Amino acid sequence: MDHQTHIFGGDWTDRKLDILFRYLQAYTTALSNQRFDLYYIDAFAGAGHREKSTESKKHGKVSTVLSGPKQPRLFPDEETAATFSSDVEQERLFLDGSARLALRCTPQFHRFIFIEKNPSRCTSLRSLTSEFPSARDRIEVRQGDANEELREICRQNWRTRRAVLFLDPYGTQVSWSTIEAVAETEAIDLWVLFPIGAVVRMLQRDGQIPPSWKSRLEDLLGPAEWQKEFYKEVHPAPLFENEIIGIERASIDMIGQFFMDRLRSRFPAVAPEPAELRNSKNALLYLFCFAASNKRGAGVALRIANHILNMGK
Ligand SMILES: C[S@@+](CC[C@H](N)C(=O)[O-])C[C@H]1O[C@@H](n2cnc3c(N)ncnc32)[C@H](O)[C@@H]1O
Repeated sequence: MDHQTHIFGGDWTDRKLDILFRYLQAYTTALSNQRFDLYYIDAFAGAGHREKSTESKKHGKVSTVLSGPKQPRLFPDEETAATFSSDVEQERLFLDGSARLALRCTPQFHRFIFIEKNPSRCTSLRSLTSEFPSARDRIEVRQGDANEELREICRQNWRTRRAVLFLDPYGTQVSWSTIEAVAETEAIDLWVLFPIGAVVRMLQRDGQIPPSWKSRLEDLLGPAEWQKEFYKEVHPAPLFENEIIGIERASIDMIGQFFMDRLRSRFPAVAPEPAELRNSKNALLYLFCFAASNKRGAGVALRIANHILNMGK
């Protein structure tokens, strides 16, 4: 395996990719007799491969092969993306990342767009053409920022094309305006990881959010009145509205629902129950959400997505 292999994730990564792969297969099957050019777009494409964390025994102790920095971390990516530690035995499992899974899908997509900002991962993605020679002329690798590249792609004419877009950021990198641009194509189905764990950590209990986090949240959630939604003043009693004794932050469920409502405000169909991706300590990291942008195709797309999402329960 080459050095560009990407190391991340735990069991929730398997679940995420399993859902994606099942959807891709069902999607190309359902649309195989239609006249559309079918695209797979992966906007945080990674390297194409990944190494899975496994446990191995050394000196009588069970240790995980992945180790990361010890200080508190804000984003789920930092918790799971890691480098191999030299003092543990390494059991390496080489698995397909999302890009390779999409290339393996049958019936095949007509075109593949892989967006990745890391240059060495782009090199790795380009080398997929030798592994999948029949797709050589149908793979486009764009090195750049996912939001910028996607906005340009969404501005193109999508009348004769349909696509599945996978948004798999580590943290809060997806802009709400990008999601709006996707909905406006009326051609691109969206699977997006909403980084709810990171969002909850950024929404400080006392409402005092550092300016840099605030602007990231605004970019992720859009200019909606999320602060009003997420923070309520606490009064001593119902008739004492001028007296504020504290601030109450919305629950994690309410924050998730807020994002789902945002999706529903733009897309004709949104799967009502996203997959909850949790780490080994059962902490919720991401909601894996599905939204279909084409009114005509939305019914079928939603049925397939709901079926797949319910399989993992
Ligand atoms: C969770 S990994 C993707 C894993 C991939 N989907 C897979 O299954 O193999 C996120 C990737 O997004 C890339 N990335 C981070 N910020 C980005 C940005 N703004 N634009 C494009 N890629 C970005 C990272 O370099 C990393 O490879």
